[in-house]
Amino acid sequence: MDGDWQFLNEDERPTLKALFDRGAEARVAALTIEQAGIRFDWSKTHLDEALIAGFEARAEAMGLADMRQKLLSGAIVNPTEGRAAEHTAERGSGSPEAVELARTFHQRMRALVEVIEAGAFGEIETLIHIGIGGSALGPKLLIDALDRDAGGIAVRVVSNVDGAAMAEAVQGLDPKTTLLAAASKTFTTAETLLNLESAMQWMRGGGVDDPYGRVVALTANPDKALEWGVDETRILPFSESVGGRYSLWSSIGFPAVLGLGWAAYEEMLEGAAQMDRHFAHANWRDNAPVMAAFADLYYTQGRGAQTRAVFAYDERLRLLPSYLQQLEMESNGKSVTSTGEALDYPTAPITWGGVGTDAQHAVFQLLHQGTMLVPVEFIAAREPGHDFDDAHHEALLANCFAQGAALMAGKRTDDPARSYPGDRPSTTLLIEDVTPAILGAMLAFYEHRTFVNAVLLGINPFDQFGVELGKDMARSIEEGGMDDFDASTKALMEAALGDPA
Ligand code: F6P
Repeated sequence: MDGDWQFLNEDERPTLKALFDRGAEARVAALTIEQAGIRFDWSKTHLDEALIAGFEARAEAMGLADMRQKLLSGAIVNPTEGRAAEHTAERGSGSPEAVELARTFHQRMRALVEVIEAGAFGEIETLIHIGIGGSALGPKLLIDALDRDAGGIAVRVVSNVDGAAMAEAVQGLDPKTTLLAAASKTFTTAETLLNLESAMQWMRGGGVDDPYGRVVALTANPDKALEWGVDETRILPFSESVGGRYSLWSSIGFPAVLGLGWAAYEEMLEGAAQMDRHFAHANWRDNAPVMAAFADLYYTQGRGAQTRAVFAYDERLRLLPSYLQQLEMESNGKSVTSTGEALDYPTAPITWGGVGTDAQHAVFQLLHQGTMLVPVEFIAAREPGHDFDDAHHEALLANCFAQGAALMAGKRTDDPARSYPGDRPSTTLLIEDVTPAILGAMLAFYEHRTFVNAVLLGINPFDQFGVELGKDMARSIEEGGMDDFDASTKALMEAALGDPA
């Protein structure tokens, strides 16, 4: 498919400095959106009137308004699997049936949490949440961001099939005061099932007579969970049409409900719903997910950027980059259109990132002076997440804002090694605080931004067939079927595990 991105290359584009020289305050005002406790600032990107108008035309040509309506009303938006993507129904936007079903499943989750809190399983100190990909990254982020005062039931998340991860998760725990959450949309994921078996063994070894009685299943495949041995009363289902990387709003969010309480969970859903309403109703140029996608696409299609970097200047959001990696790369790392035609333009860049200020002392050299263009996203909060001296937060914010300013301004000196080219773009998300509502709104913003990118690229963000081949081949190796493998892989297996024969 031909991209028709010519509008990006029409003229020599103005530099950031030139764009600011046209009227700095007006530019900042025009390219700042405040929504749901988040201030988005795109003024340090190269977006200008001509580019925005070009992207608006692209949105028209690609049917963005129609696709948005389809997404938010539960119509089919995942053509390769013939289904809707109903994560917004978890927050109240979708077909009436999907919204009702989500509400019913939420109430079921709430009831089970109440039963646990009332002591039906004895005294519970810890929940080990076992899942991988979308069944782990969301809960892990929520707990790490919001559950920092260590009251109530502690949550540990295990995803990697490396037994060392499980060993770390159980360290110091008493099996008799531990519950297990088996989180898997399909309830067939090899890593999760193996980790679950090991956790059961650990429970048995620790004197728990009926470890099955301590497993809660979070799944869209209740039959499989039942077959595995989870009692129906402890299966918390969610809808098949909620994708794994969009599932933290469903029963996959169970550890967050247990760790943070129902009220916080509802606030998170309401924050996301506020962003859904904004996405549904705002004009393209006043619409945060849409403007973010315009900037993303300018850099991938117009400037050849192959990566984008996200730096959280807030320790509470240190897991956000890895959450976004799955959301963005698993959704939009595609090379055919939603109807299967090969693309002749790039799709998702590689998402990477880290935490400020740590990253400044490790990777920012390349951002300032390297040869690759990397659009950067800064995220900071007005309120600190601690009670130490204000000097910490002041230093954190000063560093965050200085980096964006330095990337843009650059600095010329007589010494090339000490010169900074500048004109390097960044976006800033300044949030009020890391609260359930604001985090909910922020994650919904990222979901919609990913969706808008996909629509303008003409791809389907809701399938992930790219992960299957590697899984099949791993299964073959585990089952001893090495014959079909290349010589390098066979030699590696032999060197690591010995001759299978
Ligand atoms: O292999 C990729 C994937 O299917 C992700 O999309 C998903 O989040 C993850 O595996 C875990 O899948 P499940 O929740 O079915 O265990």
